[in-house]
Amino acid sequence: MADNSNPDAAGGQAPRRAAGADAPPAPRRFLWGTATSSHQVEGGNDKNDWWEFEARPGTIRDGARSGAACLSWERYEEDLDLVRGLGLNAYRFSLEWSRIEPEAGRYDEAALARYRAMLEGCRARGITPILTLHHFTNPLWFAALGGWEERRNLPHFERFARLAGERFGDLVDYWITVNEPEVYGFHGYDAGIWPPGVKDRSRALIVISNLLEAHALAARALRETDRVDADGDGRSALTGVAKHWVLLEPRLRWSPLDRFATSVQHRVFNVAVVRALAGGPIELSVPGARSVRREVEALRGSSDFLGVNYYTRWMVSAFGGEPRTARRGAPVSDLGWEIYPEGLERALRECSAFGLPMIVAENGLADAADAWRPAFIRATLAALDRARASGLDVRGYLHWSLMDNFEWADGYQGRFGLYGVDFLRPEGPRRERPSAQVYAEEVRRRS
Ligand code: BGC
Repeated sequence: MADNSNPDAAGGQAPRRAAGADAPPAPRRFLWGTATSSHQVEGGNDKNDWWEFEARPGTIRDGARSGAACLSWERYEEDLDLVRGLGLNAYRFSLEWSRIEPEAGRYDEAALARYRAMLEGCRARGITPILTLHHFTNPLWFAALGGWEERRNLPHFERFARLAGERFGDLVDYWITVNEPEVYGFHGYDAGIWPPGVKDRSRALIVISNLLEAHALAARALRETDRVDADGDGRSALTGVAKHWVLLEPRLRWSPLDRFATSVQHRVFNVAVVRALAGGPIELSVPGARSVRREVEALRGSSDFLGVNYYTRWMVSAFGGEPRTARRGAPVSDLGWEIYPEGLERALRECSAFGLPMIVAENGLADAADAWRPAFIRATLAALDRARASGLDVRGYLHWSLMDNFEWADGYQGRFGLYGVDFLRPEGPRRERPSAQVYAEEVRRRS
C-alpha cells in the first residue's frame, strides 16, 4: 500500500466522532440499490449549463449530445420496476434544479409534481429513495450569475434545498446535497473539460470550497424543513455528500517525486474534502494555485453519512505525458480505468478514518460487452463484506448505474448500465445484461 493510504499521514488530523455518540442509528435494512442522475437519464434538460456546453463543437466525444438520453423523464415507472425487479430496496437519483427552477425564484409545479410521482413510485415499490440535489448541472440563470465561483450565489441553492425539504420531506429521509464537489471543481475549472470550460486551478479550489459550504447550508435547510420520518427509523433527514474517493499510488514507487505528487493529490482531492465534510476546516492547496483556507461553522455536524463513490485506482507520475495512468498490465474498462474491485475495501477503510457512517453511493464500470462486470460485482461485494466484517460502518451499496446513460464528456462511450440502452432508439426496450441478475443474486444471498 502506498504511503498516502492513511489520511492522517497525508493530510493531518481528521476530526473523529465517537462511534455511536451522535451517529445516526443504522437503517433497519442495508440499502441495496442502483444510482442515476437527472441529466444523464432524463432527456430534454435544455435549461442547464451542460445542454449549452454540449452544443459547442469539440466538447463531447463523438459530438454526442444528451438529447433524449434514456427518456427517463417519461419512463420513470419502468425504471423503478427494473430496480424492484432486481429485488433492490434503494434507488438514488437526482432532482434537476433547472427543471424545478427554470428562472430564479420561479418554480415549475409540473416538474415538482413529476418528481413527487417518482418518489411515490419508489415508496409504492418498497424502494428507499436517496435524493441528490446537485449532480453536476446548473440552471442557466445560476451559471450566468457566476455559478459556484461566487459565494454570494449560495443562498440560491439553500433556497432550492429548502423547497426540496418542504415538498418531498415526507417521502425522503436520505439526502445527498452535492455530488463530487472535487470532480466538479477540477473538471470544470482546472482541466476545463466540463462547463464552464475554465483552466485555472485557483478558481477550481474556490469552487470546491463554495460547494462544501453549499452542502452545509443545504443540510441545515433540509433538517429544518424535512420533519417527517418517512422510514420510521427515528430520523427524518439524513444529509451527506457523495465523494469520489480515488485510490492513488506513485507510478514509480522508488521515485520521491512520484510519491510527492501522489501525496499532494491525495491530500487535496480526497482528504481535504472529507475532512471539511466531517466538520474540519476547509484547507485546499496545490502547487501553482492560491490556497483556500477557511472555517465554515455550518459544516460542523452537517454530515450524517459520507457517500463514497469508488471506481478505480490511478498511478500518479510527476513527470511525463499523462499525470494519471492505469497500472501497467492491469485489466481496464472501456474508458481505460483499471478494473480493481478489491480496492473498495481499502477505499472504505481510508474513508472510515473520518468517523462518518458510509454509503457506497456509486460503484461500477464501463463495460458495453458485460465481459468484466459479473466478476467485478462479485469481487466488489466480497470486498464490501470484508470491510463490514472488520467493523466498518457501511450502510448501503448503490451500483452505478441502473442503465447506460449520458457519460458527460465521454458522451455515450462509457456504458455503465446493468441494462443497456440503444441511444438511437431510447424509446425501445432497456436490455438486461447478464450482470443485472448476478447483482440480484448476490444481493439475495446477503439479504
Ligand atoms: C459521477 C457519475 C458518472 C460516473 C462514471 C461519477 O463520477 O458521479 O455521474 O457517470 O462517475 O464516470
